[in-house]
Amino acid sequence: MNDVKIAPSLLAADFGNLQRDVELVNESEAAWHHLDIMDGLFVPNISYGMPVIKTIAEHATKPLDTHLMIVDPDRYIQTFADLGVYMLTVHYEACPHLHRTIQAIKAAGMKSGVALNPHTDVSLLENVLNDLDLVLVMSVNPGFGGQSFIHRTYEKIRRLRKMIKQQEASALIEVDGGVNLENAPKLIEAGADVLVAGSSVFKSEDPKKTIAELAATTFS
Ligand code: DX5
Ligand code: ZN
Repeated sequence: MNDVKIAPSLLAADFGNLQRDVELVNESEAAWHHLDIMDGLFVPNISYGMPVIKTIAEHATKPLDTHLMIVDPDRYIQTFADLGVYMLTVHYEACPHLHRTIQAIKAAGMKSGVALNPHTDVSLLENVLNDLDLVLVMSVNPGFGGQSFIHRTYEKIRRLRKMIKQQEASALIEVDGGVNLENAPKLIEAGADVLVAGSSVFKSEDPKKTIAELAATTFS
């Protein structure tokens, strides 16, 4: 048995029935709610803003795992802290003063995560790895749900796992994009601790069952 955490991405939820879908995650074996915040600038798409995030926060009973795909995320650190966010993840590519941003997230009382685009090498985190609670490895280019998984991700996770061990760091490894029941065992085997899943959960016939199956993933 492993203790993989599942973080369903609400980007794939039915926004006409948002409360219902948040409650579905509450009642499931998911560990966290994954919130994708896009600004139409860092990524080509706009997802949802503060009124929707506030609604999710009001109904969610599990920790909020918030993935900011926005430029200059420092502007909103306090806002997300006030909303009760547990994990705030910013993109390496959006933060010229990443170390400062990480410290500001922690000072605001949240756990601190950094996301890497598919082209960004894990070695670039060497100098901040020991300050992090989570590294989010993007397995698609951020901006949209429902894209296909990039296979090179396995190797990135393996290298990151090695770095974490070498540096005696405690950051969790989260994978996001195109995650499904088929690639989950290989991702866990490579060293992933948290799996984000949008389409494979919410587009399935029984999302709660799919979350349970993902959470029970093992590898031989
Ligand atoms: C993509 C987002 C993901 C996305 C995952 O930019 O960060 O969290 O919602 O969706 P699927 O699982 O459909 O790839
Ligand atoms: Zn995400």
